[in-house]
Amino acid sequence: MAVRWARSGAWVLVLLATASLADGWDPGSRATAQGSITNTRHNMTMSYLGASAIFMSGVRNDYGAVCVYCHTPHGANSQIDAPLWNRTINNGTYIIYDRPTTLMRPIGQPGPSSLTCLSCHDGTIAIDSVLNMPGSGWEPTLSGATNNETGISNQSFLGLWKAAGGIGPPNTGPPLGTHRTLGPELGNGTTTETCAQCHNGAFTNGPGSFRAFMLGTDLRNDHPVGVLYPDTYTPAADFYEPTVRQPGRMAIFDTNGNGRADPDEVRLYDVGGGYQVECASCHDPHGVPSGGAGSRFNPSFLRVNNGIGGNHAGTAGITSDGASALCLTCHVK
Ligand code: HEC
Ligand code: HEC
Ligand code: HEC
Ligand code: HEC
Ligand code: HEC
Repeated sequence: MAVRWARSGAWVLVLLATASLADGWDPGSRATAQGSITNTRHNMTMSYLGASAIFMSGVRNDYGAVCVYCHTPHGANSQIDAPLWNRTINNGTYIIYDRPTTLMRPIGQPGPSSLTCLSCHDGTIAIDSVLNMPGSGWEPTLSGATNNETGISNQSFLGLWKAAGGIGPPNTGPPLGTHRTLGPELGNGTTTETCAQCHNGAFTNGPGSFRAFMLGTDLRNDHPVGVLYPDTYTPAADFYEPTVRQPGRMAIFDTNGNGRADPDEVRLYDVGGGYQVECASCHDPHGVPSGGAGSRFNPSFLRVNNGIGGNHAGTAGITSDGASALCLTCHVK
């Protein structure tokens, strides 16, 4: 506790030094969003912040590697149909989209390819809540502790990670800090035990506001997920027909015709009940180059750039696919 509060106080002094901002599409971000997920906000080590990453030391474990916050090569979460998933997931229920829809079909709970994202963005699960922590020769389960596959997080298990402050190699430094969630929907300054304590938009030239990224468990104000895509198409249809369909897996808008689901192609997920729209239909959490390999990523981890580029401040190097290009991949409008 003492360490954390000392740091919380210390950042006030550093804010002036961090006021010069990178030329990002989001001018408040220091992540260049280019080349690799390492240079995006999905790098939970925040290594792109350099020494300033220490502000996050007391609030999440720094595992020193990018992929481990989401994936593990062995011992992945068996409760979710997602690639080598290393995170605990929320097995509770979400409040789902409740407005009338064109097709007038019931909307289900989020599917696996949304639960992955919601395992951070719903604000119920700690950012560092993984099943397997990294470390050569260091096996936290030897101490008899394991993490659950579902549920908010197991704070005592996560507390076994003793390099949380970057002090010494794993298991040598003192246990440090807490294991925080992003925060509830539109998290504000009252949520002291979440990332929103600082990332609440209250600080000019300070920690960026993450309020827009905190979706919470009430999804009524978000584009529907867990929602079936049409399976018949007529000349008057409201939806475009995917070009490739693999029942039980995915349907793809295969723009380059190679028969594969490339990162820049919108897709629908089928885990048994038909093709559905999920978070990962529109977003790739690793970042998608907007203008081919090496270019700046589409903002907001979108698979298709929905019109950002050119005339916005800080969008140098971002290629737009045209206004509403993402929406118009599916919707005939
Ligand atoms: C004690 C205050 C504080 C808390 C709590 C906090 N942060 Fe930060 N965070 C900062 C500060 C200050 C910066 C800006 C550092 C800089 O720009 O040099 C920052 C920067 C970031 C950035 C980089 C933003 C960008 O685009 O440049 C990310 C990502 C981030 N924090 C994530 C988190 C997460 C996730 C949590 C919760 C686990 C968290 N932070 C909790 C103070 C905090
Ligand atoms: C913030 C979470 C997150 C991080 C960090 C992350 N991934 Fe992923 N990854 C995902 C999700 C979610 C999917 C599933 C996407 C989907 O549903 O199609 C995925 C899918 C994959 C796939 C399957 C093919 C694909 O692209 O969909 C591979 C391979 C992969 N990730 C590798 C990596 C590697 C390597 C790293 C580290 C450099 C990494 N990921 C970091 C979330 C993450
Ligand atoms: C390991 C936790 C974690 C997972 C899993 C995760 N995110 Fe994030 N995401 C974050 C954090 C932390 C940030 C940076 C702070 C913020 O913007 O809230 C972020 C930022 C974002 C942003 C804003 C990016 C920007 O450039 O400003 C988007 C969009 C996003 N995530 C979407 C997703 C989607 C979609 C998925 C699933 C495919 C996902 N995230 C999975 C933690 C996660
Ligand atoms: C139908 C496509 C679509 C789906 C499905 C979708 N998103 Fe998004 N998302 C977008 C677009 C487009 C933006 C960019 C909005 C903007 O630029 O203001 C965005 C923005 C975001 C942001 C950044 C905050 C913001 O308002 O810009 C986050 C975080 C995010 N999405 C997470 C998710 C998560 C988590 C899910 C699943 C529960 C999801 N998205 C489902 C299209 C989608
Ligand atoms: C991956 C395909 C896909 C993409 C991309 C997509 N949508 Fe949707 N959208 C759907 C489906 C399917 C529904 C649910 C339709 C239903 O059940 O009637 C839906 C529902 C909606 C609804 C609710 C009203 C209705 O008719 O159901 C709105 C509004 C909407 N989408 C707008 C957008 C916007 C704006 C974008 C771009 C940011 C977008 N959509 C991108 C597939 C998509």
